[in-house]
Amino acid sequence: VLHALALRLIVVTACLGLFALAAGSAPSTPFGGQDNLKDINNWSELMPEPIYNKILEEAVKSLQDKTKSNGEFNQKSKALTNEAYSLIMYAEVARRASNGGMAQKALGIIATAKELAATAKAKDLEASRKHVAELANLVKKGNNNAANPVKEPLQELVPIHNLMEEVQNVNKEMVKYKRMRAEEIKAKAKSDEVQRNAHRLLAFSVAITAHVPDKDIPKGKSKEDWFKACDDLRKATLEISAAAKAKNQSNLRAAINKMDTACTKCHDDFRVEIK
Ligand code: HEC
Repeated sequence: VLHALALRLIVVTACLGLFALAAGSAPSTPFGGQDNLKDINNWSELMPEPIYNKILEEAVKSLQDKTKSNGEFNQKSKALTNEAYSLIMYAEVARRASNGGMAQKALGIIATAKELAATAKAKDLEASRKHVAELANLVKKGNNNAANPVKEPLQELVPIHNLMEEVQNVNKEMVKYKRMRAEEIKAKAKSDEVQRNAHRLLAFSVAITAHVPDKDIPKGKSKEDWFKACDDLRKATLEISAAAKAKNQSNLRAAINKMDTACTKCHDDFRVEIK
């Protein structure tokens, strides 16, 4: 009798589980595995289309520069690898932000940038050049020619170490923006540049969220602390974008300070030592 009861319980629990999965509010994703991003619901705020297009344009230009010659490539293959990872992050956020043009070309960009990260890491210039040309074409034409759509979630596509190096590159710019004179942000070019860096960082913050640890969480801390720091980082970074758009230097400075607090909170909570 006990056995039958236990079995029934298991069956009922399993059905409930399946039902919860089906009814869950996770965004549509072609990726398998666990979706660590289910609590994020303001995707289009994170990556507005005009800003995304300009970010892609700049990324392609930078990739082309770094694959121009043997000398450039040898010196910059590490930066090239990281930029390929960044493209994956921008495109993944854009894919979730839209059902239109951005989403359509995002899968092709993710698949091609994944290959570029691998060939750049292996210091293969010819193959890297080929992928850069494919990316340039994808960005310009916007069609999705992904031969093998990528199935891995962000945390598997982008290693956290490379991700943090890209975060640090944008952070260096943020440090400069804090010191800017009030007139400088009034220039449209500067206001646009700061907004682009804010949205780069927003894409990275999504990838940090995806990297929530499953094990070795310090005593007294939990996954919630990780998510909270990421959420604070996202909010602060949206404020950076808004302050830059409004060309308001004192708000910009305050928002960047908030961002700093979110970075430090996570490093403190999860005992990350920053040299
Ligand atoms: C939710 C957690 C979290 C947040 C938020 C976070 N980081 Fe990190 N950071 C980490 C972890 C974990 C590492 C260690 C990565 C590794 O294993 O290499 C790290 C490493 C770093 C490093 C060392 C670089 C390296 O080579 O690994 C720098 C620099 C850094 N973070 C900067 C920042 C900045 C700047 C921000 C905010 C804009 C930030 N981080 C936000 C978790 C976080």
